[in-house]
Amino acid sequence: MTSALFHAFAPAAKPEADFVNIVRGEGSLVWDDSGKDYVDGLGSLWYCQVGHGRAEIIDAVADQMRRIEAYNIFDPFTNEPAVRVAEMIVERSPHPDGRVFLGCSGSEAVDSALKIARQYHQKRGDADRQVVVRRTNGYHGTNFGGTSAQGIAPNREGWGDLVPHFVEVPHDDLEAAATLFAEQGERIAAVISEPVQGAGGVHPPPAGYLEGLRRLCDDYGALLIFDEVICGFGRTGEWFGAQHYGVTPDLMTFAKAVTSGYLPLSGVILSRRVCEVFEEPGFIFRSGYTYAGHQASCAAGIANLQLMTDEGLVGRANHVGGQLRGGLDALMADGLIESWRGTGAVYAAELGRDAILVRNEILANGVIVRPIGTCLAICPPLVITDDEVGRIVDTMADALR
Ligand SMILES: Cc1ncc(COP(=O)(O)O)c(C=O)c1O
Repeated sequence: MTSALFHAFAPAAKPEADFVNIVRGEGSLVWDDSGKDYVDGLGSLWYCQVGHGRAEIIDAVADQMRRIEAYNIFDPFTNEPAVRVAEMIVERSPHPDGRVFLGCSGSEAVDSALKIARQYHQKRGDADRQVVVRRTNGYHGTNFGGTSAQGIAPNREGWGDLVPHFVEVPHDDLEAAATLFAEQGERIAAVISEPVQGAGGVHPPPAGYLEGLRRLCDDYGALLIFDEVICGFGRTGEWFGAQHYGVTPDLMTFAKAVTSGYLPLSGVILSRRVCEVFEEPGFIFRSGYTYAGHQASCAAGIANLQLMTDEGLVGRANHVGGQLRGGLDALMADGLIESWRGTGAVYAAELGRDAILVRNEILANGVIVRPIGTCLAICPPLVITDDEVGRIVDTMADALR
């Protein structure tokens, strides 16, 4: 029987009893309602860097809630946790002199970035620049902007007309992007790209690809948007994918790991150059979300970023990655997987066949990984122990055999 809950990205007719009911978590382990434990090989949904059950974040949220749980930041209001978390975010980004527009979800961040990019050009008198370039395999959330921006065709279908002026290029072909710019560069407002494509199957960019996008945007006057919703906050072994690949975008979206998922928080980092177009006296920015700057979410973000800094978790992504790559190399040497791809602490094992049945077996044996087409994605908490990584790899090996 279905329940009153209509699940996200799920078969709508699936009986509630067939879902895994997670009731508790500690570190990189979670437990279901039968008491069975699982290694959380996906950090819930690509977001839990610091592990589950961290008292530092729970206490910070509780302390904040006892003072005030939330009060909006629409004009004329502000609050200290929102200002502080924005400072901590820009300090860690390639835009220390930039500013942060806050939301709650990655989808809100993406739609905001798309609106900011278009309005940037409108305000500069370039109203014809509306085209947004997207890449195949790109995932940018499920609001109408992000649905239009994503390069996973089935996710775009069935909703009627999407937002106009989105043009797709193959995710690994810089020449195709160059041709598009040559044809209609003066109409292109922005290119949106994940540094490492995550939900589309963990595809790191080809060498020189992101640098090439940066050059095209500069040459033709378009903005480069990095969607850092998965890459941001340590996943690649740097604070942001931008720093990992040494390419600086004009706008950066983030969500997920900014709080390690303890409470919803997201946003857009605007470079100084973009801010300046909006900071003219008297201009009112007419977009924003009720829960932007929610004090409890911002308190979770502050505590999470402090914890990640104190524990050196950004650098630890490289250690976790080394352990995972060793395991994936062994699976490949044994002929159990075709190949793997990834960087930092986010990987996909390519099976060369549908991954759902294998995932089901792995799940039954106490490890959570995510099937995406013919691959299995792995994106564990950055506090995961070597033994727990071993359990992920061994469980995958057993299921694949
Ligand atoms: C790169 C990227 N952008 C946007 C989103 C959407 O985030 P949310 O599900 O919080 O709306 C996701 C979610 O996985 C994502 O991976």
